[in-house]
Amino acid sequence: MRPSVTPTGTERVLHTKEIIVSKTDLTGKITYANKQFLEISGYSEDEVLGVQHNCIRHPDMPRSIFQFLWDRLKSGNEVFAYVINLCKEGDHYWVLAHVTPSMDESGNVLGYHSNRRAVNPEVVKNVIAPVYAQLKQVENAASSPKQGLADSMEVLKAFIAEKGGNYDRWIFSL
Ligand SMILES: Cc1cc2nc3c(=O)[nH]c(=O)nc-3n(C[C@H](O)[C@H](O)[C@H](O)COP(=O)(O)O)c2cc1C
Repeated sequence: MRPSVTPTGTERVLHTKEIIVSKTDLTGKITYANKQFLEISGYSEDEVLGVQHNCIRHPDMPRSIFQFLWDRLKSGNEVFAYVINLCKEGDHYWVLAHVTPSMDESGNVLGYHSNRRAVNPEVVKNVIAPVYAQLKQVENAASSPKQGLADSMEVLKAFIAEKGGNYDRWIFSL
């Protein structure tokens, strides 16, 4: 179950050379977390292993971004996404996550892997945070969570179309 943590609004900044790594099983339960993950999030290894990855979900993250992430992973593809995460004590940190399916030699997906790097704060402030805020607004304004997700996916799709129709190219251009 996701811990109930109230955001403090205080940002923790990841050093540019650090990489936060976690791995999950097929259902998104954490099977591995590196030292940087534990240090920045404030959790012990025991507190996160076997727990759903939404344990560090920040309320500012749009549901559509996670839907997009899972759609990409389920179709066997990697995905890059800006993510704001919540620490145990309520602080937050931004990362650019590279999430990939982990496969055996026969190509069977065994789980998923995420490597997260530091972000350019200007990109977050001027591009990502405003887009995510718009998606959240659409989600919150809908009559139900299901409708909110559908509406937000439409807005995300329209936004990507406006940026040239290619999400990856847009992310790498930032
Ligand atoms: C390898 C991997 C890494 C993930 N990393 C994060 C993460 O850092 N933060 C996060 O909120 N969700 C992460 N997720 C997505 C979560 O599984 C989940 O979809 C998301 O937190 C939304 O959860 P909810 O729909 O229950 O609110 C990750 C998923 C995978 C497969």
